[in-house]
Amino acid sequence: METTKVELGERSYDISIGSHILDSLGERLRDYGLSPKIALVSNPTVFALYGERTADSIRKAGFDLVTVIIPDGEEYKVLSQVQHVYDELLGHRLDRSSGLIALGGGVIGDMTGFAASTYMRGISFFQVPTTLLAQVDSSVGGKTGVNHRLGKNMIGTFWQPRLVWIDLDTLRTLPRRELLSGLAEVIKYGVIYDRDLFEYLEANRESILNLEYASIARIIRRSCEIKADVVSKDEREAGLRAILNYGHTIGHAIETATGYTRYLHGEAVAIGMYLEARLSQVLGRIGEGDVSRIKALIDSYGLPSEIPDVIDRSQLLSFMQLDKKTVAGELKFILPRSIGIVRTEKGVSEEDVRKSLQG
Ligand SMILES: NC(=O)c1ccc[n+]([C@@H]2O[C@H](COP(=O)([O-])OP(=O)(O)OC[C@H]3O[C@@H](n4cnc5c(N)ncnc54)[C@H](O)[C@@H]3O)[C@@H](O)[C@H]2O)c1
Ligand SMILES: [Zn+2]
Repeated sequence: METTKVELGERSYDISIGSHILDSLGERLRDYGLSPKIALVSNPTVFALYGERTADSIRKAGFDLVTVIIPDGEEYKVLSQVQHVYDELLGHRLDRSSGLIALGGGVIGDMTGFAASTYMRGISFFQVPTTLLAQVDSSVGGKTGVNHRLGKNMIGTFWQPRLVWIDLDTLRTLPRRELLSGLAEVIKYGVIYDRDLFEYLEANRESILNLEYASIARIIRRSCEIKADVVSKDEREAGLRAILNYGHTIGHAIETATGYTRYLHGEAVAIGMYLEARLSQVLGRIGEGDVSRIKALIDSYGLPSEIPDVIDRSQLLSFMQLDKKTVAGELKFILPRSIGIVRTEKGVSEEDVRKSLQG
């Protein structure tokens, strides 16, 4: 097992990565001074695969476990489901020293983190991410939340977990498309922060896609290290943390334009990463060679890089102007200067964005 630390003073925590480690979660939880009563939140899909093993390990460690099952799907990442979690926690008399464990992908993680941050003004929270996206992105960094009818992730808190427990074997049951979608975020870390990671992804595609332990452990560990480093320098996104949004300004606009049905998040981000690299080229900030290399890597992992013609370009532009991260309509992007280096670009003109959106 390998461990990476997120340095946040008294709130620092470990990210542990290994194979078959679900079975030792319970033992590890004994290190945290928790009340005997503990709760685990999951969904039926993940619970059917990994629930029993995880629950056994927690019970064997002497805890009295309550399980809460939320239906599977982004549409259930809403306050009414959080309310259901509160009902169970109060009904079973979990107290201020109790722990809450999220077993699942980003949906379960975000919602459980939100519940943990608000139950009795905040209780210990543990992430056991089972999708690649959750392992390299959503489980690390402390953003929690739920969706509102008027916008995604509009209700939320910052609440750091006390431990992130990544069992790589869980990826074996993940649908291929979900795996590739998570890989888009790994490619993102390469472009924004680490040329070596980018080159490793170029050179080791086969072994990564075959989930060979050494390769997959390496890219997940490196992704977590990068996210941990960024978050420890800028927990609340006052500056640096915004680099994690590379590919996301255009990616979110694509998700909105297609009603969140056509693309998985990582797929939309993959298109966004290529188009934002092209925008950087339109602005004369990056050479054509690097832009082609970014596109080639995205394509080689079977991810999309172009917007289909059915999507209206000017509609995309207006969605970007409405994005919650856009301030006063000013278009701002995280743009690569070369592979491994990005800068914030403010005051980008509509015309330059239009140019980069044309194939
Ligand atoms: N908090 C953050 O910083 C942050 C960052 C990025 C994304 N997010 C959020 O994450 C969510 C998306 O997360 P996601 O991509 O993990 O989606 P998800 O949680 O919906 O999981 C995707 C699907 O895979 C299934 N699944 C999970 N693990 C599995 C496994 N091991 N084997 C088989 N099936 C499995 C799930 O049941 C689900 O059907 C979004 O709500 C997004 O807003 C949060
Ligand atoms: Zn993302």
